[in-house]
Amino acid sequence: MKAARFYDRGDIRIEDIPEPVVEPGTVGIDVAWCGICGTDLHEFMEGPIFIPPCGHPHPISRESAPITMGHEFSGVVYAVGEGVNDIEVGQHVVVEPYIVADDVPTGPGDKYHLSRNMNFIGLGGRGGGLSEKIAVKRRWVHPISKAIPLDQAALIEPLSVGHHAFTRSGAKAGDVALVGGAGPIGLLLSAILKAKGLRVIVTELSAARKEKARESGVADYILDPTAVDVVAEVMKITGGEGVDVAFECSSVNKVLDTLVAATRSTGVVVIVSIWSHPASVNVHSVVMKELDVRGTIAYCNDHQETIKLVEEGKINLEPFITQRIQLDDLISQGFDTLIHNNESAVKIIVQPRMK
Ligand SMILES: NC(=O)c1ccc[n+]([C@@H]2O[C@H](COP(=O)([O-])OP(=O)(O)OC[C@H]3O[C@@H](n4cnc5c(N)ncnc54)[C@H](O)[C@@H]3O)[C@@H](O)[C@H]2O)c1
Ligand SMILES: [Zn+2]
Repeated sequence: MKAARFYDRGDIRIEDIPEPVVEPGTVGIDVAWCGICGTDLHEFMEGPIFIPPCGHPHPISRESAPITMGHEFSGVVYAVGEGVNDIEVGQHVVVEPYIVADDVPTGPGDKYHLSRNMNFIGLGGRGGGLSEKIAVKRRWVHPISKAIPLDQAALIEPLSVGHHAFTRSGAKAGDVALVGGAGPIGLLLSAILKAKGLRVIVTELSAARKEKARESGVADYILDPTAVDVVAEVMKITGGEGVDVAFECSSVNKVLDTLVAATRSTGVVVIVSIWSHPASVNVHSVVMKELDVRGTIAYCNDHQETIKLVEEGKINLEPFITQRIQLDDLISQGFDTLIHNNESAVKIIVQPRMK
């Protein structure tokens, strides 16, 4: 079968590899669609980061480069391994792409996303969604209704990142949120916030992404920091109080500064971005307003509620798919577009099997 394999920085190859073995306790999935994530781009341009370099096997998967990429995917079950009795061939599914040690508890309330040596399928080994087939442990396979188109279902993984950020914030219906940066993560997080009944203010520079925030209906207000004073506008919208919660989704220090300034006393600032360098925070404001500044990473028991929001029609993922490509065009049409023309795209999704 065909698979996109990461060898080293700048070296991803589309190759023929053996099909996965559907071992006991696993589910064989025909991949329908797989999204390209900013993390994949970082691996390609600056990596390996999450990917274990050639000759340095990951402590849990025991694999190292070359590894198959892709962690945002949907598909159809084609086989179930021995002992899997609650899922059937033909079932539509998405994957919560975790690699965690076998002795880590993964039930409700368990913080398996913070466990030692945690990594992701499609980065740390165990196959990936940028291949025709994959076998995944039953625990990480989530059935979805056939009413959700499989292309949209590929976005449930990054949507779950938004759901976890929302959970971390403690926000509730009626609250006002400020989202800094409307890339794929900021937009999908905004979709969650809207679905949960918040009023959403988005701040974004790029014209195409401001337009996407508008046309998808995920933002009540869209503020361009080159055109307006974002903090002053937020104060007007919130009657001088500031927002209840703010989400940093740009990894730009100026945006973090704006969010801290625009959040009300005792409000919460959630940092969603992955930062490759130390950032500064106005600690005086944090103290004087008794702000909570919190991080959020990936998801943990977020998939079920996220899937429910999509199944109930509270979130429409279609507007966020800006391109559909074939696996052979992964670099030329996928990575190159996202690297050189990032703002024109939101999610580029890849079909691994030639139709
Ligand atoms: N915490 C997690 O679990 C998790 C998971 C996935 C991704 N991420 C991280 O989330 C971040 C966002 O991801 P993405 O794919 O949406 O990135 P992106 O780069 O596509 O989006 C960032 C957006 O911020 C906007 N921006 C830049 N400067 C701005 C400014 N001054 N004011 C307003 N907007 C500004 C950009 O125009 C862009 O649209 C990345 O750092 C990514 O690594 C975190
Ligand atoms: Zn991702």
